[in-house]
Amino acid sequence: QALIKDLYRNTESYIEQVVQLSGWIRTIRDSKTFGFIELNDGSFFKGVQIVFDEQLENFKELTKLPISSSIRVKGDFIYTPQAKQPFEIKATEIIIEGTSNVDYPLQKKRHSFEYLRTIAHLRPRTNTFNAVFRVRSLASYAIHKFFQDKGFVYVHSPIITGSDTEGAGEMFRVTTLDMDNLPKNEEGKTDVTQDFFHKETNLTVSGQLSAEAFALAFRNVYTFGPTFRAENSNTARHAAEFWMIEPELAFAELPDIMDLAEEMVKYVIGYVMEQAPEEMNFFNSFVEKGLLDRLNLAHTADFGRVTYSEAIELLKNSGETFAYPVEWGLDLQTEHERYLCEKIFKRPVFVTDYPKEIKAFYMRLNEDNKTVAATDLLVPGIGELIGGSQREEREEILAEKIKELGMSEEDYWWYLELRKYGGTKHSGYGLGFERLIMYLTGMANIRDVIPFPRTTGNAEF
Ligand code: 4AD
Ligand code: MG
Repeated sequence: QALIKDLYRNTESYIEQVVQLSGWIRTIRDSKTFGFIELNDGSFFKGVQIVFDEQLENFKELTKLPISSSIRVKGDFIYTPQAKQPFEIKATEIIIEGTSNVDYPLQKKRHSFEYLRTIAHLRPRTNTFNAVFRVRSLASYAIHKFFQDKGFVYVHSPIITGSDTEGAGEMFRVTTLDMDNLPKNEEGKTDVTQDFFHKETNLTVSGQLSAEAFALAFRNVYTFGPTFRAENSNTARHAAEFWMIEPELAFAELPDIMDLAEEMVKYVIGYVMEQAPEEMNFFNSFVEKGLLDRLNLAHTADFGRVTYSEAIELLKNSGETFAYPVEWGLDLQTEHERYLCEKIFKRPVFVTDYPKEIKAFYMRLNEDNKTVAATDLLVPGIGELIGGSQREEREEILAEKIKELGMSEEDYWWYLELRKYGGTKHSGYGLGFERLIMYLTGMANIRDVIPFPRTTGNAEF
């Protein structure tokens, strides 16, 4: 059994060989005595041409096969170096495995990505999605390899949690209570102690707090798993279910994790360009012109570094008019983030030291008492790819903050204890995996880099 990817990569070793392939018919046409099949086998985003003729006993039956039928082919490898296709297979035997139907939705024409989302169970059969999901697989392996080679410990943080790490209140509730018949307590409120976990629980928005506990035992750890946010923002960059990579390092300060993040992004770019050069060229030609230049630049150039306060000045003095206001104290919007990395720095850039009011409770307060040791990595075409920070290791300041924000102190007792027992400075970041795949492939919508995306109003498949 040969794989089409190998026929393309090691073409010359197949000269004068008999090969056996199995796959699905992408296109089929015939004249009276012979026919052509473009066969895809999933190993590559491109197919191979199969030539068959009336010498095959099932010739008539073959000519009637609808596209997407599955077959097994045995044939001679014909080397055609001058032709557009460098080789083809002259079939000596074709076995029909499964026929299809003429109403198969993926007929040979260009379908819009919007349409393909409505048939997410079939779209992995297209060239584009074959390439996207292969790169997704390779990138996830690259990330594990990057951290494992450095001796980081992979931590499986819980999916069901009682805490709201980001404090944004964008959580999906997890409950076994009967919604039509909720138990009430004396105050007339839902009695959550009667729920499965005897408390309110939700799907995790981030594995960070668990990662911190493990970092204070193992030093360098990372999580890589699904996270969930009930953000009602219907954008091309937000999903309700997405994967996050969260390294956490003990004895590390903000610049240490910025260096690590830069090294990691460069490593993953290098890895996919090396392992999937054909797919990357395909994206460069058909998805985003200039993709490879953009990635090569990010792979070689130093990322920019700028403080939030400097960034605000740069945006104010840019002469550009933005839809949202630019003012010290306000959060950067996607348009500002993109302007910074696309127009001013023209490459990925870290923004650091944001006002404490617009960032999460756990970030370390700077000496100025106004900003926190936080960083976002902004990249062209996307905006925010990474959010990270040095964590507040001072127990009193952290406890004060939790109180100030009206967070439930009982829920964070263990998190505070990490500061009490051998607490040390530590830092980490979270990288949105889907946004990384968009960045690597040029795909413009997050729905097109997730096998079965979950967004508002969409949990089909
Ligand atoms: O900036 P965020 O909210 O940071 C955290 O969750 C921290 N606990 C991470 C840490 O320090 N360990 O999210 C991190 C990244 C964002 O930069 C973005 O790339 C991605 O997660 N992200 C999303 N991706 C897709 N859909 C969403 N709804 C996302 N929300 C965040
Ligand atoms: Mg963020």
